[in-house]
Amino acid sequence: MKIGVAGIGTVGVGVIKILQSHAELLKDRCGQELEVVAVSGRDQTKDRGVSLDGMTWYTNAVDMVSDPNVEMILELIGGSEGVAKDLCVAALKAGKPVVTANKALIAVHGTELATLAEKNDAPLNYEAAVAGGIPIVKAMREGLSGNAISRVYGILNGTCNYILTEMEETGGDFDAILSDAQALGYAEADPSFDVDGVDAAHKLAILTSIAFGTPVDFDNVYIEGIREVSALDIAFAKEFGYRIRLLGVARKNNGGIEQRVHPCMVRKDTAIANVSGVFNAVVAEGDFVDSTVYEGRGAGEGPTASAVVADIVDVAAGRISPTFGIPVGRLKAIPTMPVESHVGCYYVRLTVLDLPGVIADISATFRDEEISIESLLQHGRAPEEEVSVVLTTHEVKEDALLRALSKIEKFDHSLAKPRMIRIAKL
Ligand SMILES: NC(=O)c1ccc[n+]([C@@H]2O[C@H](COP(=O)([O-])OP(=O)(O)OC[C@H]3O[C@@H](n4cnc5c(N)ncnc54)[C@H](OP(=O)(O)O)[C@@H]3O)[C@@H](O)[C@H]2O)c1
Repeated sequence: MKIGVAGIGTVGVGVIKILQSHAELLKDRCGQELEVVAVSGRDQTKDRGVSLDGMTWYTNAVDMVSDPNVEMILELIGGSEGVAKDLCVAALKAGKPVVTANKALIAVHGTELATLAEKNDAPLNYEAAVAGGIPIVKAMREGLSGNAISRVYGILNGTCNYILTEMEETGGDFDAILSDAQALGYAEADPSFDVDGVDAAHKLAILTSIAFGTPVDFDNVYIEGIREVSALDIAFAKEFGYRIRLLGVARKNNGGIEQRVHPCMVRKDTAIANVSGVFNAVVAEGDFVDSTVYEGRGAGEGPTASAVVADIVDVAAGRISPTFGIPVGRLKAIPTMPVESHVGCYYVRLTVLDLPGVIADISATFRDEEISIESLLQHGRAPEEEVSVVLTTHEVKEDALLRALSKIEKFDHSLAKPRMIRIAKL
C-alpha cells in the first residue's frame, strides 16, 4: 500500500522510521508492502533525520490526495482546523483511507469526519490520538465490544502527570516544576493545552463516544486544569493517604453522562495513583469484564508512531471498524449531566485567621448545607495568624458544597478563596 505522510515532525518521522526498519515484519502482518511515496511539510530543506529519497514532496498537503500514486493518507500535522481538517475531508471524499494522531481534530470534528468516512467507504483510524502508544481505542472499540461500559477514566496527559508526580516527590510548587518540565522537553513552551486540561478533554471526548455510542461532544466536557494545585494540597493529600492526579472521567448513569477533566485525590493503593511521570493509564469498566487497566507511554516519537503504524496495518490488512465502533447513524446523543450535580466526596482547604470560633462557624455552614464532614485538621496553632484548615467530606452533591464554600469565603476570618479537590471513588 502506497502512503502519503502529511506532517513529518515528531510523529511523522517516527512512523517513517518504523515503516523502514520493520518493512518485512509489517509485510507479514498486513499481507502487503507498506511504502511511503509522498510527504508534506512546510520546510523542504529541513534535515528530518530520515531519508525521504524517492518520495514526492508536497508543499500543499491537500494536493497529495489527488496523487493517483497515494492510496492512504497519514495526517500528522495537528490542529482541529486548517490544513489538517481540509486534508482529511478531501481524502475521505476521495475514498482514501485516513490515519491520524490528531485528538483535537477528532474531538471537535469526529462525527462529521466519521460520516464522511462511512459515506465514502473510507476508513478513518486515530489510535494515536488517545493515550499515544496505549492501544485503548482498539481495546474499547473491539476488545470490550461484548460489554456495556459504565465508566472509563484515566490519566490522559503525560505532561500533567509528570508535573504532579514531581511536585509530590520534590515538594516543589507548580510554576517551578513546570519550568523544569519545559527545560526537559516534557512541556511545550506554551503549556496551556496540557496544564489547563484541554488536551486530556479532547481524548476524553473521544473515549466517551466509543464507550457510550454517542456523537463526540467535546463542548460538553467540564475542564479544570492543574495550575491551582499547590504544594500544600499535595502535602495534605499525602497525609490523608491520597495522591493528586489529573483524571478524565466519563460515566453513564440513569441521569445521562458525565464528562469531566479535573484534578482528583486518588487513594495511594489504586492502580491509577501508581502511574507516575509521563505515563498515561486508562481504566475501562464493563458489565461482564469488570475493571480493565491499560498503561503505557502516552506521547513521544516511538509510542505515538507505534499506534499510527498499528492503524496503517489494520487498513492494509482490511480490518476496518466503524470510526466510533458503531455506524454513525446509530450514535445517540445522551444528555450531559452538569458537574454541579456530581455526587462525591471532597477535599477542602480553607485559609483562615486562627481565631476562637472559626472552626465552629465552618462546621455550622457545612451543617446548614447538610454536608457531613469525614475528617478535619488544622496544622499547628498561630493565634490571630493565617492557618490552613483542611477537611474531607462524606458524599455530597457538588452544588451544596459550592454554596457552603461561597458562604465561608465571605467570612471576615477567611483569607483566601477556599480550595476544593474532588476525591475519586475508584
Ligand atoms: N508528539 C507526540 O508525542 C504526539 C502524541 C500523540 C499525538 N500527537 C499528535 O500528532 C500530530 C503531530 O504532532 P507532532 O508532535 O509530530 O508535531 P510536530 O513535531 O510539530 O510536527 C508537525 C509537522 O507538521 C508539519 N506542518 C505544519 N503545518 C503544515 C502545513 N500547513 N502543511 C504541511 N505540513 C505542515 C510541520 O512541518 P515542518 O516540519 O516543515 O515545520 C511538521 O513536520 C498532532 O496532531 C499531535 O497532537 C503527537
